Amino acid sequence: MTQQGDIGSGVGFTALAAAAGRAVETSRPDRLIDDPLASAFVAASDSPVPLPVRWPAPDAVLSDREALLLHGSGYVGLRSRFCDDQLRRDGVGQVVVLAAGLDTRAFRLDWPAGTRLFEIEQPSVLHFKDTVLRAQGAVPRCARTTVGVDLRGDWADALTTAGFDVHRPAIWLAEGLLQYLPADAERALFEQVDALSAPGSHLVVERSANLARLAAGEHDRLREIGERTGIAMDRLVDPGARPDPGLWLAEHGWTVTEHPVTEIAEHYRRDLADPRLPRSAPTSAPGPSAPGPSVSTSFLCARR
Ligand SMILES: C[S@@+](CC[C@H](N)C(=O)[O-])C[C@H]1O[C@@H](n2cnc3c(N)ncnc32)[C@H](O)[C@@H]1O
Repeated sequence: MTQQGDIGSGVGFTALAAAAGRAVETSRPDRLIDDPLASAFVAASDSPVPLPVRWPAPDAVLSDREALLLHGSGYVGLRSRFCDDQLRRDGVGQVVVLAAGLDTRAFRLDWPAGTRLFEIEQPSVLHFKDTVLRAQGAVPRCARTTVGVDLRGDWADALTTAGFDVHRPAIWLAEGLLQYLPADAERALFEQVDALSAPGSHLVVERSANLARLAAGEHDRLREIGERTGIAMDRLVDPGARPDPGLWLAEHGWTVTEHPVTEIAEHYRRDLADPRLPRSAPTSAPGPSAPGPSVSTSFLCARR
């Protein structure tokens, strides 16, 4: 369990980097989301890596690191908006955010009356998050419950003990998560989601298409990006081979639709190879939390 840690280290740091990405997105003139709490997390942290929280002025001179992180924020903004729209469209009464990190959807989206939103995450990340939210006087717009538990273990009991109702449909979100789980834990995660999902439930998953490629040399590329950004993604992701989640879900009675990132970017008119950023930055640069489109190539939306 060496990859775990608090907000400034280990995989918890990826939550901070994703929040920085949403802060940048929030400051863009062409923003896709509005997350006013995101920059507060970065400000309250003792980040070992300076994370940009604002979109640069047109004449700004950017370092290689800043340009890479800003490329990543363009992807984080896009995926946040896509997932927002999936959650909003479906409007199911129970929402479960798996590995919620510093996600503030409970605070920033309008939820139908009676919505219960569960955030599952490492206790240390939730502790940091709630400290900042309290200091900001943030008030959730739904019934928010946090569940501090390790997603590599049996987390279903903790969720039901926290009030999740297995007899009601839910919408599950796994955004920026799978690449950090060992293959066995990923399999167990889908099994637990499946067992807890009443008919009418939905699941939105960011799949990480790079995992197979990591074994075939992509690891070197991730290491290089880690050296340039200061975020050692190569040490955080788990390259273990695993079944295709789309096939697994279909075999277990879910109706699955796959949305490639290119299609999503076109839909939201987001140029992920933003020409306003220096050319030296690869167009598929990993973002802070993750990864640009060469790493996460699609989202799965499933219904049962
Ligand atoms: C890239 S962040 C994504 C957070 C959030 N979903 C978002 O998009 O901003 C990955 C998150 O996964 C969490 N995580 C990774 N492995 C975990 C585990 N075994 N148990 C609980 N949380 C885990 C980390 O703590 C981190 O918050």
